[in-house]
Order: sequence, then structure tokens, then C-alpha cells
Amino acid sequence: MTHPHSSEQIRSIFEEEEYLRAYAERRRPDMARERASWSSPPPNLLEQLKAWWEPLLARADRICSGVGGPVRLDVGDHPLVVDFTARQVRDYQGENCRYRLSARAALIATNVARREIDWSNSLFLSLRFSASRVGPYNEFVYTFFTCLSIQRIDYVENWYAARDDDGQDILLDGWRVQKRCPHLRADLARFGSIEGTTLNCQMHGWRFDLASGRCLTSAGHQLRASPTR
Ligand code: FES
Repeated sequence: MTHPHSSEQIRSIFEEEEYLRAYAERRRPDMARERASWSSPPPNLLEQLKAWWEPLLARADRICSGVGGPVRLDVGDHPLVVDFTARQVRDYQGENCRYRLSARAALIATNVARREIDWSNSLFLSLRFSASRVGPYNEFVYTFFTCLSIQRIDYVENWYAARDDDGQDILLDGWRVQKRCPHLRADLARFGSIEGTTLNCQMHGWRFDLASGRCLTSAGHQLRASPTR
């Protein structure tokens, strides 16, 4: 293998601030072009989102029940709501929302104008947004914003269906628990460990309260468990 850079060049990339300053300078025209391409929010932004997202919400049974309520989406200073219970997109009406996302109106309008189907890549990874929540992290909220097309929604809904509990149980330290982790189906006979009344899946560190089956790491994801004695 021949590396296109000398060892000295590689060292400077990782160790010298000057490299980053020069890089920022080189990319400045690209950034300016990208900013100039941002759209202004159209007067009918809400109607566009309704026409786009409501058909997705209509077929997203598992995502909707996983979110289980309204998510506030602030488009600049215009608050909207993606209501996962009523499966509607509408104006915010002052209700309590456990989850809230906010971004500059121009950024959201640009994602809408470009019909971006994965806002994780097109918006969230830029960190040009803010988010708040009451209670634990809810992966279904972000899954929705990553699957903004019929094909993606169907794919992920089918994937959730296939991931469901297959009915098998195992015995673990005085508890009968379902064999597959409700997160990504790790075999709990291998990856599960119990501390007190908490089951820990070592695959990604998710925790479950065995007495209630409630997932302590993320909303939803109930675990089937009962004591053997
Ligand atoms: S599969 Fe169990 S925590 Fe991810």
C-alpha cells in the first residue's frame, strides 16, 4: 500500500491547529454555497408536512405506539406537533409534549423542499437542532425521522415485527425471562445478567426491571419475566 501523504503530513493533520484552520478556509466557499441554497419556509409548510407525513404515520403502527404521544417540532418560532396517537401533523395547541425538537426554520424548510427521507443524516448529525424530553430516551422518535418514505416505514415496521418476542423463555437466577432481548434480540442466556431485580443485557447495556418488565433504558420494549419461586 502506498499512502498519498507523508508521515509528517499525517502528523500535522492530527496535531496541528493550523491544518484545521486551512481546511475550514478551503471549505468556506462550499459552506457559503450550501447556505445560499437553503429554502425559506413556504407559507404552506404545515400542509406539505401533513401531505407527506400523515400517510407514513397511518402505516407506522409500532413506531406510533412506541412514541405514544405528541412530539413538538419547533420550526423556528412556529411550533408544530407530530401527534403519534392521532397520527396527525398540526399546529401546537399548548398541550404537554414529552419530546421536543427545534431547528431553524430555514433548515427544516430545506429538508422539506428536498424531501429528505433521513433527517438523521440531513439534519441531526449536523447538531444544528436542540432536543429535550421528559423521561427516558425514546428510539422510536428518531426512527420516525430516519424513515420518511413509505419504503423505509414499511421496512422498519416489518423489522420490528420480525424482532418481536418468539415466545421462548429461559431460566436465569430465579427468574423465567424471554430468551430474546427486546432491544436487538440478543440471546439473554448469553448476554443477560441479573443484579437484584434488574436484568442487564450486556450486548448494549440496556436494563430492565424484572418485577414489572419495564425497560429502564428506553421507552417501550417491555420484557416478559416472572419469578420461578
Ligand atoms: S440487544 Fe440487548 S441491549 Fe441491545
